[in-house]
Amino acid sequence: MAAGKGTRLKSKHPKVLHEVGGKPILAHVIATAKQIVPAGDIFVIIGHEAERVREAVAGAGVNFVLQAEQRGTGHALMVARDALSGNRYDQIIVLSGDAPLITAETVRQLSDFHTAQKAAMTLLSADLDNPYGYGRVLRKGARADQRAEVQAIVEEKSATPRQKNIREINSGFYAFAAPALYGHIDRLSTENAHGEYYLTDMAEVFQRAGKKVVAMKTSDAGEVLGSNTRAEMMVLDARMRMAKCRALLEEGVTIFYPHTCVIDSDVEVGADTVIEPFVQLLGKTKIGEDCRIRSYSVIGNSVLGDRVTVKPGTIMQDSRVGTGAILGPYTHMRPGSEVGEGAHLGNFVETKKIKLGKGSKANHLSYLGDAEIGEGVNIGAGTITCNYDGVNKHKTVIEDGAFIGSDATLVAPVKIGRRSYVGAASCITEDVPEDALALGRARQSVKEGWARAKRDAQKDQHR
Ligand code: UD1
Ligand code: CA
Repeated sequence: MAAGKGTRLKSKHPKVLHEVGGKPILAHVIATAKQIVPAGDIFVIIGHEAERVREAVAGAGVNFVLQAEQRGTGHALMVARDALSGNRYDQIIVLSGDAPLITAETVRQLSDFHTAQKAAMTLLSADLDNPYGYGRVLRKGARADQRAEVQAIVEEKSATPRQKNIREINSGFYAFAAPALYGHIDRLSTENAHGEYYLTDMAEVFQRAGKKVVAMKTSDAGEVLGSNTRAEMMVLDARMRMAKCRALLEEGVTIFYPHTCVIDSDVEVGADTVIEPFVQLLGKTKIGEDCRIRSYSVIGNSVLGDRVTVKPGTIMQDSRVGTGAILGPYTHMRPGSEVGEGAHLGNFVETKKIKLGKGSKANHLSYLGDAEIGEGVNIGAGTITCNYDGVNKHKTVIEDGAFIGSDATLVAPVKIGRRSYVGAASCITEDVPEDALALGRARQSVKEGWARAKRDAQKDQHR
């Protein structure tokens, strides 16, 4: 179920597209579902901002059901009737699109428990210290026998003060016997605090019809937490990221002060890599073994080889780095930067869409954009590729072994031949052949005694 708006978030964006652990909440839930059944048997109920939601998770290969008007969780399942009963499923597992920590293992247990109990409806429940906001599970019988069948689920808004003290909550995850669900779902009504069709009311509907409703209580209450508010969402995000750090530690990665690091769910890091405090590794970033990622570096969707050193404050997006390269401090690698084996990019060097060959170096204060730079090239401090003429972008080619003096401006399109030298402070507008020296600067002139003469003239004025 992913059709709701998420009113309590006060957001322009649909709730299920808010991100925790670096990807949409719904994407996590779908990933879990795919561990249980094939994508073709997953139906995502969308409604609020349906097209945006569909687009965001379309890659998962799942089916979509449109709930154009969102009249409650029960209504969501009513709308899915044709899609689901057409397929003659025995069992329907309902997952809440806003509870991303759920694991496949728990859902499988729920499904097995449901089958073993021969129930019409089985809900996943949990004991929470603070059950506020969740539906409470009312068990049958005078005493709240934890093994008794479920009488009803009562929502926070409709609960009596006594019911509010119940700590066993409904997680929003269910298993239903498909024929029973669609045989009885039309008995739901909108006579409740919200005027909506509540899926939770199916418990009472089944009870009245003499059908069995049970609850399976999970021991890990953390897994079922929902994200109705930003505060809840941040709790989920922190849990997910801590779990990610723990998994990486387990795989042999060192992470200092892991609670200060932001590492997205899909990131991969090789053994013996060291991650210092306050590092962000985002998206589909993949880091090799024996690397050191120093503090305040932000690396998004990039691939780093083994033994790469990333010094503090380096920012990198959609880039690739070869084995043994050294980056930073304060290198800014924009999309499409490819740094070869053992190459160096130093402080305040900005790159965009470049290839930097094996062992080449640009250690200080440069802009290198739309450039193909060979192997063993030395780029002096302050070198700029002038890649943009105000309308189009042009390419700079620097061949193997070239030496670019400090403060050179290379006006693209331009090519510097193999092993050539470009004199410091040159403005290069024409191609330089192999093994040449290119100078593009004014010849220095010296006026002997000029300063002394100026001082003497000023003294005369003040006399
Ligand atoms: C729901 C349960 C509550 C449970 C809690 C667990 C009901 C009535 N209440 O409350 O007992 O403790 O989850 O987190 O079900 N949705 C639709 N269509 C709709 C309405 C909602 O698809 O018309 C989707 C939402 O996008 C969301 C999910 O269903 O992913 C749950 O809806 P939400 O409004 O978050 O329910 P809660 O108030 O949290
Ligand atoms: Ca919810």
